[in-house]
Amino acid sequence: MYNDNPTLKFDEKQKDLLGEERQGEALEAASAEGLVPDNGKRFYIESYGCQMNFSDSEIVASILQGEGYRITRDHDEADVILLNTCSIREKAEDRIRKRLIELKAVKKKKPDSVIGILGCMAERLKDKLLEEEQLVDIVCGPDAYRDLPNLVNVAETGQDAVNVFLSKEETYADISPVRLDRNGVTAFVSIMRGCDNMCSFCVVPFTRGRERSRNAFSIVAESQELFDKGYREVTLLGQNVDSYKWKNPAEEAQVSFANLLSMVADVHPDLRVRFSTSHPKDMTDEVLEVMAARENVCNYIHLPVQSGNSRVLDLMNRTYTREWYLNRVDAIKRIIPDCAISTDIITGFCSETEEEHQETLSIMDIVQYDMAYMFFYSERPGTLAARKLEDDIPEEIKKRRLREVIDKQMKHALEANQACIGKTYKVLVEKVSKRSDDDYCGRNDQNKMIVFPKEQSKIGSYINVKVHSCTSASLKGEIVPN
Ligand code: SAH
Ligand code: SF4
Ligand code: F3S
Repeated sequence: MYNDNPTLKFDEKQKDLLGEERQGEALEAASAEGLVPDNGKRFYIESYGCQMNFSDSEIVASILQGEGYRITRDHDEADVILLNTCSIREKAEDRIRKRLIELKAVKKKKPDSVIGILGCMAERLKDKLLEEEQLVDIVCGPDAYRDLPNLVNVAETGQDAVNVFLSKEETYADISPVRLDRNGVTAFVSIMRGCDNMCSFCVVPFTRGRERSRNAFSIVAESQELFDKGYREVTLLGQNVDSYKWKNPAEEAQVSFANLLSMVADVHPDLRVRFSTSHPKDMTDEVLEVMAARENVCNYIHLPVQSGNSRVLDLMNRTYTREWYLNRVDAIKRIIPDCAISTDIITGFCSETEEEHQETLSIMDIVQYDMAYMFFYSERPGTLAARKLEDDIPEEIKKRRLREVIDKQMKHALEANQACIGKTYKVLVEKVSKRSDDDYCGRNDQNKMIVFPKEQSKIGSYINVKVHSCTSASLKGEIVPN
């Protein structure tokens, strides 16, 4: 049913931001950190969904390692198999159900292993998951990961193990994540959890609970630790980073997102700072001014528009209009002239007319996004839209509109990339290119991926690359002297 969804092809190339239904990825820790003795048991974890979920898997790994479990990349040898799941669209949940069917064979070979569902699908479906999916032994929501070792013990005795308690305080601030992404250069740092917005299409407030901000000092300390270990880029993560606020109990003053950005930027001039996601209703000029003033805060903003039409935006409960959004884009272009902007778009939301869809296409023409994640509307049970609005746009129309949005975006992305040809950018070398072992790749300030021959460069260093060619998804270039 979803194979003909045009987002799939596009998604494959650009799996980078919050909100992406990434393919499950089995992860392996860079090293088994800590001094806790090995309890002889192995866990295996696959992550789906947004960066937040990938970041949470690193917290889960840290908690389990603290109890003596060791990570494995091979599910056949695991005692505990975990899927950290996403509920954002129906397709995301379908993928997990398919994966569970595949895991049946694994469980057959090792009947005493236990299978756990973590993350948003666990929170949405709760103990219904145990009834629906015979294979599942553990259901653990995003705020209950500290209880996971206990849940594993319960499941091993053959009993149902469920904890979907949503907390108003949990930020896992004291847990040092085990870095599962092994490039050793870029890392995610969660700065808040949950979401207090009630966008009518969105399941996140139900699966992640109330918004809460993490202790600013713990964020700075984690960033410092990463820098000391050789990391050169942190991405601060939250569903709505602009509403970050944390009150230092020792002082009266509150730390805003703009303050936090400066604090993290102060860790070291060689530590690049990125963040995601910005909400158009909350993005302040103050944040833009910090970005403009600080060399190491990257000039790139992910600013989801969802629709270019004010009536649809109102139905979506996004709490801004087309004009407000465009005013925010003008502010970005005024304060940070070379800032790249990306977005999320939903086509075929309840009652969207053809003219309203045209307004989404026209806002794309005005903003000229560097990159976009594009989806057709998928009704999620329990959301405001599911309860109050009719999902009345036929799937072929949703998909046709999506195709038009994608085609336009491909054109804009290609044009934006073509404009980079001949220019030289400072690039942080991240990893070996997927296409060739002779090439490295890394991103420039504007988050554009550039591929270049390795020469003498080293992963984790900054180099200058002159761009000579491009596609709509990436740039190619050559190292030039600093
Ligand atoms: N917090 C972020 C987005 C999180 S979800 C924000 O406010 O922008 C990531 C993206 O998934 C959303 O921006 C939206 O474009 C898309 N999305 C969310 N719910 C959806 C649904 N029910 N159907 C289709 N796309 C959806
Ligand atoms: Fe969902 Fe809206 Fe919150 Fe983003 S801001 S997570 S779209 S409710
Ligand atoms: Fe993220 Fe999916 Fe949950 S997008 S917050 S993992 S529903």
